Amino acid sequence: MTDIAQLEQDTLRQINEAADEAALESVRLAALGKKGAISALLATLGKMSPEERKTEGAKINALKDKATEALAARREALAEAALEARLKAETLDVTLPAAASPQERGRIHPISQVMDELSVIFADMGFAVAEGPDIESDDYNFTRLNFPEGHPAREMQDTFFLSPEAGEKKLLRTHTSPVQVRTMLGQKPPIRVICPGRVYRCDFDQTHTPMFHQIEGLVIDQSTHMGHLKWVLEEFLKSFFEVKGVKLRMRPSFFPFTEPSMEVDVQCRRQGGEIRFGEGEDWMEILGCGMVHPNVLRNCGHDPDVYQGFAFGVGIDRLAMLKYGMSDLRAFFDADTRWLEHYGFRPLDFPTLAGGLSG
Ligand code: PHE
Repeated sequence: MTDIAQLEQDTLRQINEAADEAALESVRLAALGKKGAISALLATLGKMSPEERKTEGAKINALKDKATEALAARREALAEAALEARLKAETLDVTLPAAASPQERGRIHPISQVMDELSVIFADMGFAVAEGPDIESDDYNFTRLNFPEGHPAREMQDTFFLSPEAGEKKLLRTHTSPVQVRTMLGQKPPIRVICPGRVYRCDFDQTHTPMFHQIEGLVIDQSTHMGHLKWVLEEFLKSFFEVKGVKLRMRPSFFPFTEPSMEVDVQCRRQGGEIRFGEGEDWMEILGCGMVHPNVLRNCGHDPDVYQGFAFGVGIDRLAMLKYGMSDLRAFFDADTRWLEHYGFRPLDFPTLAGGLSG
């Protein structure tokens, strides 16, 4: 075997036996480096006669090309094997929970969630959101809503009065109805608003806290009647409880600011401590409503011979308890993060009618 053939055999074997990048690099240096065997052969070309150079040169260059190619192929094979080994070693458990981002870790309180759900439902029916202050005047909370001074109806709501300042009687609003007054005083009909917010009454047990939440609805124009009221309430309760339909029952009641006034019961089924809406033979009282009293319209600057409409009021906390199954209202306001972790909502799942209210 010629020297060249021998060198070729040895070099290719060494290349193929190189176990890693580093070993391959030393083989390359030994063959093609400055002092490498193939480089040394190439250097001999200068001293050869032209004929010899012709035959030997071709052989030596062919050897150099073969070695270069074999090196590249081996390098690629080693890289592939290394990747293969890494993939085998680094198995990824896709069932492990991903670390939540800070926005994902926070929780939306069920009261805020229900307010958002109600805003979405009523916005779809053309209602705007109106707000008012928690500290109200006696005038807006009672007098303009047709509670005469000294009338026993004022005793229905266990009011927190503030010590009178400069003769004006102030209180913590006992209901969201004063926002009706504010809206009617500031807006011309047609009026279509919902008024969600905090209200206060001196009461404390499993289903009552001194601060709680109501949402008021008010519609005023020239021809709104009880049929509209019933439809709006049906739509609202059906959407809120996310059922196909609900039956409602209206019972006569009394509120100073509506005439006639009604309590509304919603169809439900009670099953071993659980309540389902939109089915069953039972009824549950859910809200108060009625046609806005002519005196209230007059007190708020509208002619009752021209305008009429309806109002309703619902407890937001109670809606949240009924929909999401909490049994004690007091826990809503304890600021216990474990409770919030359990009953709270993910902040990036904003309720929509199309995507589902409760996600
Ligand atoms: N404001 C009433 C309450 O808190 C509820 C209500 C509102 C009733 C609007 C009728 C119409 O008791």
